[in-house]
Amino acid sequence: MSTSRRTVLAGAAAGVAAAGLAGAGTAHAASGAKPPARELFGRLADGTKVYRWTVANGGTRLKVLSYGGIVQSLEIPDRRGATANASLGFGNLDDYVARSPYFGALIGRYGNRVAKGRFTLDGRTYQLPVNDGPNSLHGGDKGFGKQVWDVEPFSRGSDRGLVLRRISPDGEMGYPGTLKVKVTYMLTARGAWRIDYEATTDRATVANLTSHTYFNLAGEGSGSVDGHTLEMAAARYTPVDATLIPTGELARVSGTPFDFRRARTIGERARTPHQQVLYGKGLDHNWVLDKGVTTVPGYALTLADPGSGRVMKMYTTEPGMQFYSGNFLDGTLAGTSGRLYRQGDGLCLESQHFPDSPNQPSFPSTVLRPGTTYRSTTVHTFSAR
Ligand code: GLA
Repeated sequence: MSTSRRTVLAGAAAGVAAAGLAGAGTAHAASGAKPPARELFGRLADGTKVYRWTVANGGTRLKVLSYGGIVQSLEIPDRRGATANASLGFGNLDDYVARSPYFGALIGRYGNRVAKGRFTLDGRTYQLPVNDGPNSLHGGDKGFGKQVWDVEPFSRGSDRGLVLRRISPDGEMGYPGTLKVKVTYMLTARGAWRIDYEATTDRATVANLTSHTYFNLAGEGSGSVDGHTLEMAAARYTPVDATLIPTGELARVSGTPFDFRRARTIGERARTPHQQVLYGKGLDHNWVLDKGVTTVPGYALTLADPGSGRVMKMYTTEPGMQFYSGNFLDGTLAGTSGRLYRQGDGLCLESQHFPDSPNQPSFPSTVLRPGTTYRSTTVHTFSAR
C-alpha cells in the first residue's frame, strides 16, 4: 500500500472504503492505467507552447494544461458506466487566457479574498493587486492559474500522475518571498483524484493554494446543478460583508440555508432569502469543516447527482471549504462542448484556509516562514449509486 493511500485511509476510513478505494493497494494497474501523455493544446501570445496532459486510471480520466495547471476535463462514469466530463471549461487556450472565471485553475498564492488587497506581516505592509471590487481575489490578476508550469508525468506502482512545478519570484503579485511550488495531481487505481500542494519560501509570506474546478456531475453543458445534493461535515461557516470578506465570526449553520449537515438539494438552498445568500448572489462562502486542520486528509463532503448516480466525496487536510454555486456564470461563455454556461451550471468546492486569514488573527494562520514547508492535500473519490 502506498503512503498516499495509507494516509487517505487513516483520515477517512469509512468514506474511502465506501467509494471503493480500500483494497486498492495491489500492484497490478487497473484497466485504463496508461502512462500520462501530452499533446500540444495551443500557444500563448509570446509563442510559449501549452500542452494538455492526459492521465487515466481506475475509470477516471483527467486532462491538465501546463497553463495554469488547469483541469480542462474530468471524465468519470455514471451508474451504467457511461462517462461524462464533470468539469466546466473551454475547448481552446484563447478562452482560458481571455475570459476564464478560473475554470479548473490552480489558485495561488492566496485562494479567495484578501481585504483591500492588503496585509501586514512582521511589521511590513504588502499591497496586492485589487481585482475583485475593493479586494484581491485568487492571488491577483496574474495568479498561479494564469502562469505556465513545468509538468512531469509519473507512474508509481499503480498510481499515475503529474508533478507541476513553478518558482514564483519574490514580489510576484505583491507577495513577499521566492515561493518554490510543487503540485501533484494523482489518479489511483480506483480512480480517486488526489492533489498534493507543497511550497517553501526564502522570506516570510502567506500561502493558501487550492483548485478551482467547477463540477457538474451530470456533465458540463448539461444544465443546472440545482438538483445535486450536498452533505458537508461543517457546523459553522464564516459570514461575510457585502464585498464577501469574512466578518471574523464563526457562525452556526443551524436554522440557516448554510446547514448541509444532512444532504440538501443545492437549488433550494441557493434561493433562500437570507442576507448572506443575497450578498453572494447564491452560496459563495467558506464553511468551517468540523475536522479542523489535519495532517492527513479528513472527510469534508459528499456531492451527488441523483440523475446520473455520480457521487464525489472530498477529504482534505484544510480547515475550510469555499462552496461557490456558480452564481456569476451568466450565459456569456460557451464551454468545452459548445454550450453556454448559465448561472448555477457548475459549482466549486475549494479546500482552503479561510478567506482573508492574513488580516484575521483569530483564523488558522496562513503564514509560511523560511525553513518550513507548506503542505496541503485534497482527495476526491468518485463512485456511482
Ligand atoms: C470564488 C469566489 C467567487 C468567485 C469565483 C470565481 O469561488 O469566492 O466569489 O469569484 O471564485 O468567479
